[in-house]
Amino acid sequence: MMQLTDDDRRILDGEQGEVKRKALELLLTLARIYDADSLVPIDSAHINGASIVAVGETGVGFVEDMASDGATIVVPATTNPKSLPFTDKDVGLDAAQAAAQGRLSQALGRMGAQVCSSCTPYLVGNTPGRGRSVAWAESSAIVYANSVLGARTNREGGPTAIASAIVGKTLRTGYHLDENRAGTLLVHVRQPMSGTTAYGTLGYFVGGIVKDGVPVFEGLPASVTMDELKMLSAALATAGSVAMFHVIGVTPEAATRELAFRGRKPTGAIEYGPLEEAATVAALTRSGSDKTEWVTLGCPHFSLTEFAHAAALLAGRKVHGDVMLWINSSTGVVRQAAKLGYTKVVEDAGAEIVCETCPVHIAGRVYARRQNITSLTTNSAKMAHYAFGQLGLYPRYGTIEECIRAAIAGRWNA
Ligand code: F3S
Repeated sequence: MMQLTDDDRRILDGEQGEVKRKALELLLTLARIYDADSLVPIDSAHINGASIVAVGETGVGFVEDMASDGATIVVPATTNPKSLPFTDKDVGLDAAQAAAQGRLSQALGRMGAQVCSSCTPYLVGNTPGRGRSVAWAESSAIVYANSVLGARTNREGGPTAIASAIVGKTLRTGYHLDENRAGTLLVHVRQPMSGTTAYGTLGYFVGGIVKDGVPVFEGLPASVTMDELKMLSAALATAGSVAMFHVIGVTPEAATRELAFRGRKPTGAIEYGPLEEAATVAALTRSGSDKTEWVTLGCPHFSLTEFAHAAALLAGRKVHGDVMLWINSSTGVVRQAAKLGYTKVVEDAGAEIVCETCPVHIAGRVYARRQNITSLTTNSAKMAHYAFGQLGLYPRYGTIEECIRAAIAGRWNA
């Protein structure tokens, strides 16, 4: 039996407007389907239906109609990448798509969203505390929120994240409940781990096995960085539909193995070592050619420390004339990187900082055709996965050091 507060009832009576009533009705319908007995207040939302490539004209019309009807977002709500970069660079959109993207971003802004256009909202101020409920869409950010921040979110979709942002609540079910946050699969990591790509490879391997379970990693160093956990989050959610993981001795709900599994027995255990890593790297590399055409870094969006690393690797060097090197990030992080001098270093080397979007959210196939390229080189397992399936490009996958070396030389294995 659904428990409603007095405030919920007033919303259902239409006292706070028709849009809010409809948004609450959507949440209550889903509550019945997912067997939730109540709603839980949220601290923030993250909305992923923010690119014209992802939502199409129908999605734009849906958001515009809500904005015109007076929809108001009542919690801090950030937005995912859009299909146009901050600079309005030509990324393959036609004029109608570009106009629709503008209308979509404006409508989200009119409703009260912070249109930061980033898949790393936790790097630009949307950073919920441990134990706090939120309604986030964007698979990589969901995993990061649950696992690294210790916040609580289900895998929201565009419409439910918006409805939750308007109502200020979400379903009290799934990862909002303690019992669903227990680990399921134990992963023994049997090799030294260092660098973001190593963690992306691990995540891609484990995500394909654990599917929608909660992996618990044993054997990772306590020195694992936030950037490495960001890459692990993205890859887990790409190969599987993971919403949460634990790292014993590192993440907030996994001080011990016992706590990570909440006293339960794992449903299984797997090993990860050099053989599994090599097989995963091979699976993510489909390009048979050493010729390097388009190198993309920043999936998920680059952090300040990643900018510092890229600047150190590119200082005094020049990207090969036949290569495009993109760095995708949020405007907020790029502003900080500019203050510290990193953006000048990477741009002087010939890299292009492409803010607020990424190759998956632009008109990627059109763009690649216009640039006459057939391959994409990346340090991200998630981007390598989508390069082939969504962009029709042959991925080459490796570390940031290998990617930048290839960008400078114009070929892999230089
Ligand atoms: Fe972000 Fe685009 Fe990767 S949205 S996680 S940079 S595919």
